[in-house]
Amino acid sequence: MRLLRFPGEAPAWTALLPRSQPAWLLPRRAWPTERLARKPSRVACLQPAGFFGVLAMLMLVGGTALAQGPTYGIGTTPTEENIRAWDISISPTGEELPPGRGTPEEGALVYRQKGCAGCHGREGKDGRAPRLVKREAEPSTDPWDLGRILPIRAPYATLVWDYINRGMPLNREGTLTADEVYALTAYLLFINDVIPDDAVMDAKSLPKIEMPNRDAWAPLPDWKPGMPRLQGYPY
Ligand code: HEC
Repeated sequence: MRLLRFPGEAPAWTALLPRSQPAWLLPRRAWPTERLARKPSRVACLQPAGFFGVLAMLMLVGGTALAQGPTYGIGTTPTEENIRAWDISISPTGEELPPGRGTPEEGALVYRQKGCAGCHGREGKDGRAPRLVKREAEPSTDPWDLGRILPIRAPYATLVWDYINRGMPLNREGTLTADEVYALTAYLLFINDVIPDDAVMDAKSLPKIEMPNRDAWAPLPDWKPGMPRLQGYPY
C-alpha cells in the first residue's frame, strides 16, 4: 500500500471499494481528483466517438424519417419526351444527332431568314457579334491564328451543330428545326473552306468531317476527385 498521497487524492482505503462504486459513497475530498482523472480520457476518445455516433444516429433517424415522409403531390415524373427535350447535348461522335439534313445553299438562306446576319453580319463579318468567317490568310496558316471562329477551331463539326442548336439565335434559342441547324452548320463550314458547296450535312456525314484543328487540342487527362487542377487553369 502506498503511503504517499497527493493532495486531493482519495485515501488509499477507497481502492478497496468496488470500481462501480457511486461517487457519492466516496469521501468528499476524493471527488475533484476523480473528475480530473477522468476528464482527459473523455475528451480524447469518448467525446469524438460520442459526437460522431450521435451525428450518425441523427442522420440515420433523419433519413428514415424523410424516407417515410408524406407525399405532397408536388411535381410530376418526367416523361420520356421531357427528358429528350432537356437532354440535347451532342457528343463529338454525334450519336445523339437527330434526323434531318441541310446544304450550304439552304444554310445561306436560313442565315438571313433567322436573323443571324443581323448580328454576325451578312457575310459572317463586320457585325456586332463575333465573326463567323475566317480572315484571309495563307492556306498554311495555323488554324489557331485565324481567330476565334468556331467552325474552324472546333475539333469536331458536331460541336458547331450543338452550339448553334443550343445557343443561337441569341435570345431566341431553341427555335431552329434540326434541318435548319444542319443547313446553318453546312453554310458556316462551307464559308470557312472546311466542306465543298455540294456537301450534304446529316447525322452520318457531320461526325465524319475532319476539322482543320482536330489534332491541335491537348488531350484532357481523366480527372478524378482530389486531383490538382490543370496547370495554367485560370480559376
Ligand atoms: C442577337 C444577336 C445574335 C443573333 C441573332 C445570332 N447570334 Fe450568334 N452569337 C452572338 C453572340 C453575342 C455570340 C458570342 C457569344 C459568346 O461568345 O458567348 C455569338 C456566337 C455565335 C457562334 C460562335 C462564335 C465563335 O466562333 O465562337 C456561332 C457559330 C453563332 N453565333 C452562330 C449563329 C447563327 C447560325 C445564328 C442564326 C441562327 C446566330 N448566331 C444568331 C449573337 C447573335
